[in-house]
Amino acid sequence: MPTVEEVRDALTVVIDPELHRSIVELDMVRRIDIGKDGDVAVTVSLTTSGCPIRGQFQGAVHDAVMGLGGVSSVSVDFDVLDDEQKAALRSKLGRTELPEGALAQVQNVVCIGSGKGGVGKSTLTTNLAAALRAEGRTVGVLDADVWGYSIPRMLGLGAERPQVSPARKIIPLDANGIAVMSIGFFVDEDAAVVWRGPMLHKALKQFLEDVEWGALDFLLIDLPPGTGDVSMTLAQLLPMATFVIVTTPQAAAQRVARRAAEMANKVSLEISGVIENMAAFVTPSGERFNIFGEGGGQALADELDVPLLASVPLTMPLREQSDAGVPLVATDPDDPAAQAIRHAARGLIALAPPPPQRASAPIGMALPMAG
Ligand SMILES: Nc1ncnc2c1ncn2[C@@H]1O[C@H](COP(=O)(O)OP(=O)(O)OP(=O)(O)O)[C@@H](O)[C@H]1O
Ligand SMILES: [Mg+2]
Repeated sequence: MPTVEEVRDALTVVIDPELHRSIVELDMVRRIDIGKDGDVAVTVSLTTSGCPIRGQFQGAVHDAVMGLGGVSSVSVDFDVLDDEQKAALRSKLGRTELPEGALAQVQNVVCIGSGKGGVGKSTLTTNLAAALRAEGRTVGVLDADVWGYSIPRMLGLGAERPQVSPARKIIPLDANGIAVMSIGFFVDEDAAVVWRGPMLHKALKQFLEDVEWGALDFLLIDLPPGTGDVSMTLAQLLPMATFVIVTTPQAAAQRVARRAAEMANKVSLEISGVIENMAAFVTPSGERFNIFGEGGGQALADELDVPLLASVPLTMPLREQSDAGVPLVATDPDDPAAQAIRHAARGLIALAPPPPQRASAPIGMALPMAG
């Protein structure tokens, strides 16, 4: 028969899908009782009594414990963390931060990141936003590249400053129906922005909680290059966010992109897919040039066991439209690059969990610490 410690060990495979950590690490395993006939009873403490994923926990706990030798039955009970325990959990997660409901009306938060710079994150973010719009979704873009922001330019914004609502919330600027927020709206063009850790954290937090994002199907977040502070901060503030990794097709880039994946894993953000960018350039006469190599996106997706959402070719119009401030997807949806990005957008829609059906049982995924 297993010991209590062995049962606890086995339960480390049960991951809270909202907090992205094991229920053992989260101190959510309240009790383990082992009867003499191998009947094991486990009590799990949840953050809310109406926890929508209770059934998921039940199955996962059952299966994990049943896998141990000498166990004949497993019963799973639930109780709810008290206020003190919830506070302890919050501080453990380093998430004393975002108030309940700050992004309650945002269904999906998707971070667009890469291991290195210049691979097309911002271009893809703006074009994915336009593509999601074209699919009838409500979309916001948060430019989290606080040092090298480029979203305002790519969406033709910048002259105008955001207004503040009577409720003292910053109103995002509108770019053809896309709600946009960037530090670039508040500083003079070309001014160098210097951020230190705590300021950075505060600025990002403000962008999430003091901006009137309203009801959005998707909030896309354009990350700065690399795997640094911004990603860590966002991961802490947004445990429900998913991550799309952008890579160029050559094997060397894939190694760099893998670092981004490792970072996402370390901060427990779920990777939803890979987008390969700057894939083959095709001349008007149909000649194909693999300028940045080929196959890297698929190889990375296979390695991470996530879908390749698209392979976006190099096309001149994609670059030109970014410079002109209107996404190519909006001006020429049939361009091969635009088509690939629209394909990726449909992939994101397919991967998104269905919106909560408020009429029946409330299964909404508000911020995880709600309640
Ligand atoms: N598929 C493509 N075809 C042609 N040009 C592209 C393509 N993807 C990106 N570009 C161009 O490459 C340049 C870099 O793209 P972008 O700024 O989107 O990269 P980034 O990853 O956001 O860079 P950074 O790391 O500096 O934030 C831009 O001029 C953009 O227009
Ligand atoms: Mg960028």
